[in-house]
Amino acid sequence: MQNEGIIELKGLTKRFGEIVVLNDISLTFEKGKTTVIIGPSGCGKTVLIKHIIVLLRPSGGEVYFHNQRIDNLDEKELGKVRTQMGFLFQSGALFDSMTVLENVAFPVRQHTQIKDPDKIDELVKMKLTLVGMDGFQNYYPARLSGGQRKRVALARAIALNPEVILYDEPTTGLDPIRADIINELILKTQKALGITSIVVTHDMGSACKIGDRIIMLHNGKVLVDGNADTIKNSTLPEVQRFIKGEVSEKDLEGLQVSFEDIKIDDKK
Ligand SMILES: Nc1ncnc2c1ncn2[C@@H]1O[C@H](COP(=O)(O)OP(=O)(O)O)[C@@H](O)[C@H]1O
Ligand SMILES: [Mg+2]
Repeated sequence: MQNEGIIELKGLTKRFGEIVVLNDISLTFEKGKTTVIIGPSGCGKTVLIKHIIVLLRPSGGEVYFHNQRIDNLDEKELGKVRTQMGFLFQSGALFDSMTVLENVAFPVRQHTQIKDPDKIDELVKMKLTLVGMDGFQNYYPARLSGGQRKRVALARAIALNPEVILYDEPTTGLDPIRADIINELILKTQKALGITSIVVTHDMGSACKIGDRIIMLHNGKVLVDGNADTIKNSTLPEVQRFIKGEVSEKDLEGLQVSFEDIKIDDKK
């Protein structure tokens, strides 16, 4: 049986003024799988996943969730769709004025009929246990480390048992060990809850570890789409440079200009 597509992008194009960030991208994301999106900074990874929860509207093309077109829904209808998608954005920090308990309970109070405090406590405890943060209920975010805050944010993202989780650079800013804890949690969440995950990262190590499928974006298009081996064995120079963390001639040209500028300054 063919795997069911839960999210589908059809000819997705996004322009900001004259700049085409996404150029006619068509992708199907399979249910229960972890898809990783990689690519150089500024290539449109965040813009792409923002279209999946319709925080941005396409300039062209369509977005589907469970075969329902969602990019043209109004905010009220989108609210319902978004309860089925958890997201963990770089900027999506915790509410500093709320405790860990209140942070994780927030979407539950907002979007469900569950009002009984004991029920809410129990639900929050379950989610915090999953991310190894049970016991921190009464802490304020300021008292937590960066890695702990990400874990609480993950607990909040899964509070409503979403079908899909979108992660934008979940390991950025963490040291390798804490980053790996987040990778393990992404894997665990997928296995424990059967969640469909879409993860944006520029860390190849994370990508290969957690991705069933890895997609590389470049110049508004999908450059490679496959598993870790497809990426590693790709002979495309852009892919090899990305993997090895090398700069391109084009990047160097940019640097040349700044060296010239420095020389001129020296003579003054
Ligand atoms: N709201 C916006 N208005 C104008 N340009 C934007 C906006 N959001 C993103 N961009 C541009 O789109 C490109 C892709 O951005 P982004 O998706 O954030 O890149 P990344 O791959 O690093 O996540 C960048 O050139 C960025 O400047
Ligand atoms: Mg980004």
